[in-house]
Amino acid sequence: MEFKHVPVLFNEVTEGMNIKPDGIYVDGTTGGGGHSGAIAERLISGHLYCFDRDTEALKAAGEHLAPYAEKISFIHDNYANAVSDLKEKGVAGADGILLDIGVSSYQLDNPERGFSYNDDAPLDMRMNREDPLSAYEVVNDYSEEELTRIFREYGEERFASRIAANIVKKRAKAPLQSTFDLNEVIRASIPAKMQSTGGHPSKRVFQAIRIECNKELDALSDSIDGMIDFLNPGGRLLIISFQSLEDRIVKNAFRTAENPCTCPKGLPCVCGKVSKGRVVTRHPLTAKEEELEMNKRSKPAKLRIFEKKN
Ligand SMILES: C[S@@+](CC[C@H](N)C(=O)[O-])C[C@H]1O[C@@H](n2cnc3c(N)ncnc32)[C@H](O)[C@@H]1O
Repeated sequence: MEFKHVPVLFNEVTEGMNIKPDGIYVDGTTGGGGHSGAIAERLISGHLYCFDRDTEALKAAGEHLAPYAEKISFIHDNYANAVSDLKEKGVAGADGILLDIGVSSYQLDNPERGFSYNDDAPLDMRMNREDPLSAYEVVNDYSEEELTRIFREYGEERFASRIAANIVKKRAKAPLQSTFDLNEVIRASIPAKMQSTGGHPSKRVFQAIRIECNKELDALSDSIDGMIDFLNPGGRLLIISFQSLEDRIVKNAFRTAENPCTCPKGLPCVCGKVSKGRVVTRHPLTAKEEELEMNKRSKPAKLRIFEKKN
């Protein structure tokens, strides 16, 4: 299957990154390499390190970015390990880091990967197919309480407990095998009149299971501080998120990095915590009308930018 992914907020990323031709850059979520290509194109003596946990994405990016091959290193790893991987390679810091989190259109549209409720496929949803936890284990092994929690927290699903209870009932007869098995249980758990509102009835549960299998929120919250510390003076961290939980993690981490002082307001600071820099985007940047018309998947995207102190 051909790798297709239209990068979101393309101009906002390339302008927001402040790319220097001799700088060191990191794309933590290379995908098909759309954003990476824009960064590599602007480098002369600089270098770009491209991470992805999906080998199919890295292969596609390698082909797409072949004209810039000597300026790019590809690394198959979770971006949560990017700083330690780079330090091991002797890289001391970066001038810009990009995270465009979530799934690519290729992953969503490739029926084999099991990310989409529109295609009948084995329950998988792993970005890294070497990871041990797939959607199958989540759906068939998690307790009813755990399922309810992830549907509620990661999917903001109103009918979380009903869906979890029905999954447990169904799998007592035989394990759920496919995305369509799961769709069937979800549909049977949501009142008919609620099924025509809020998009596809499986949307929120699929999102929740995907976040759980790939430990997406852990990777994000464990990475931000270390990435800011790894930035060179004046360097920037850009994060594009696609749902409110992720955006909240980014917003709060950036705010704390800008103003970490924990002393009571109005009293002199004694905590000794100093600001790491500034939040460039008071409000997140979102897709403009023109982009929305071309790519409806850009609608939920929010870009926040942090700049390290000089
Ligand atoms: C939205 S796509 C990125 C698209 C990319 N910016 C482009 O222009 O083509 C997200 C990519 O990030 C990868 N990804 C998600 N979480 C990751 C993580 N924790 N570590 C490494 N890669 C991750 C996914 O496998 C996917 O290929």
